[in-house]
Amino acid sequence: WAEPQTSGSCVHVMASFIILILFFSTDMFKRVVRQSKFRHVFGQAVKNDQCYDDIRVSRVTWDSAFCAVNPKFVAIIVEASGGGAFMVLPLHKSGRIDKAYPTVCGHTGPVLDIDWCPHNDHVIASGSEDCTVMVWQIPENGLVTSMSEPVVMLEGHSKRVGIVTWHPTARNILLSAGCDNVVIVWNVGTGEAMITLEDMHPDIIFSACWNRNGSLICTACKDKKVRVIDPRKEEIIAEKDKAHEGARPMRAIFLSDGKVFTTGFSRMSERQLGLWDPENMEEPVSVHEMDTSNGVLLPFYDPDTNVVYLCGKGDSSIRYFEITDEAPFVHYLNTFTTKEPQRGMGYMPKRGLDVNKCEIARFYKLHERKCEPIIMTVPRKSDLFQDDLYPDTAGPDAPLEAEEWFEGKNGEPVLISLKHGYIPGKNRDLKVVKKNILDNKMSKNTENTAPAVKTATSTPSIKSEAKLEEVLKEIKSLRELVSSQEKRIAKLEEQLSKMDI
Ligand SMILES: *[C@@H]1O[C@H](CO)[C@@H](O)[C@H](O)[C@H]1NC(C)=O
Repeated sequence: WAEPQTSGSCVHVMASFIILILFFSTDMFKRVVRQSKFRHVFGQAVKNDQCYDDIRVSRVTWDSAFCAVNPKFVAIIVEASGGGAFMVLPLHKSGRIDKAYPTVCGHTGPVLDIDWCPHNDHVIASGSEDCTVMVWQIPENGLVTSMSEPVVMLEGHSKRVGIVTWHPTARNILLSAGCDNVVIVWNVGTGEAMITLEDMHPDIIFSACWNRNGSLICTACKDKKVRVIDPRKEEIIAEKDKAHEGARPMRAIFLSDGKVFTTGFSRMSERQLGLWDPENMEEPVSVHEMDTSNGVLLPFYDPDTNVVYLCGKGDSSIRYFEITDEAPFVHYLNTFTTKEPQRGMGYMPKRGLDVNKCEIARFYKLHERKCEPIIMTVPRKSDLFQDDLYPDTAGPDAPLEAEEWFEGKNGEPVLISLKHGYIPGKNRDLKVVKKNILDNKMSKNTENTAPAVKTATSTPSIKSEAKLEEVLKEIKSLRELVSSQEKRIAKLEEQLSKMDI
């Protein structure tokens, strides 16, 4: 503005100055105090008697989480002499775990990764140094004796299998990735390798993740590329070279809007976070430098709240961030810190949380010799159900069968309300029906007649069962529609009643 000449314009200038200050301060206010329900989320370790003690957590050198959790069980990869094993404990079985407690011990080499089936809380997959993937059915109340026979063993990798991850919405589909640089998508129900992606990764695959509806996967590879892949077309649809320039391991996960969140290292070995849009991978949506520690940052994502929790291997903290559509897109929220470093971490699905305590996330932190649950809470005064914190979340029902997905169908997760807590339903047993290639090719012999007859008689009942399931599904979706309409009407009526007409 112009130089002040008279006292009149001086007042004028003062006034504009004050307005200017006001303008800047409100602007800063907006920027610094960003509104978020999750600003005050705090973490708390449970009491000692609620920890799982005397567990020999695996020491194998592989950067996976070593722990998998669902509303019924916590599974932990453990040290085992002469093979590989993991433990499965019912959640309530805290305290000292006896040395003789049974394990799942069918692998002939160390177990590197485990994942609970999202559609059946009794089914878990494991990948191992012995180059195989195994799928296990855990009995209703946990293990009584050690288990060495899987429901199915999936053979196809030629090197150790470091990653196993279930399809989010199609029943019985499992992805595995091995140090042979190959990704395999299995139909667990038949034991078949349906898709083998052999020529996409020239080096070790550090991470693999399905998107929300399971139409795509993204991977992070030692060649420093992040790839977005359509597995059914066997096509790379987007990729970014040097997403992070450092040589240390990266991680890549899908967010619910289709963006890709990465962790990795800069050329100067600083830990970094990145956010990418597969529509335009050239430039990151945003990149953040964190610190200079050297543990791999394992990301855990809550699609309902868009909060990402980062647990560095060997760190003693969990840092969390909210991701929004507003710059800088990745917003730091807080850090939960303890004294002991973490060797691994389990992450409870949303439906396993205590909504009455405003629990927003639960971690199972692995120490050298114990597993310690950590509860993240949103402080609220009210005892009522906080529906803004708990939008409907992915439930255990699979909207698609494996075959439908392989034929090209997609399905979004079937959502459930947590209003009255999650009540686990009855899981059906995993059945593996291996296709007998002899059935079609060979003329009848005594060995083949029996299964052939069985198949023939069971066909109609399978069909009517499928039909019944379809009808039940429809009833369920109609019921959901009615209840959502009811809510809407109630809301409109409430609005109407508030209007002075
Ligand atoms: C599945 O997700 C992809 C990618 O986000 C999207 O393009 C597609 O429309 C989705 N399909 C369904 C059926 O929701």
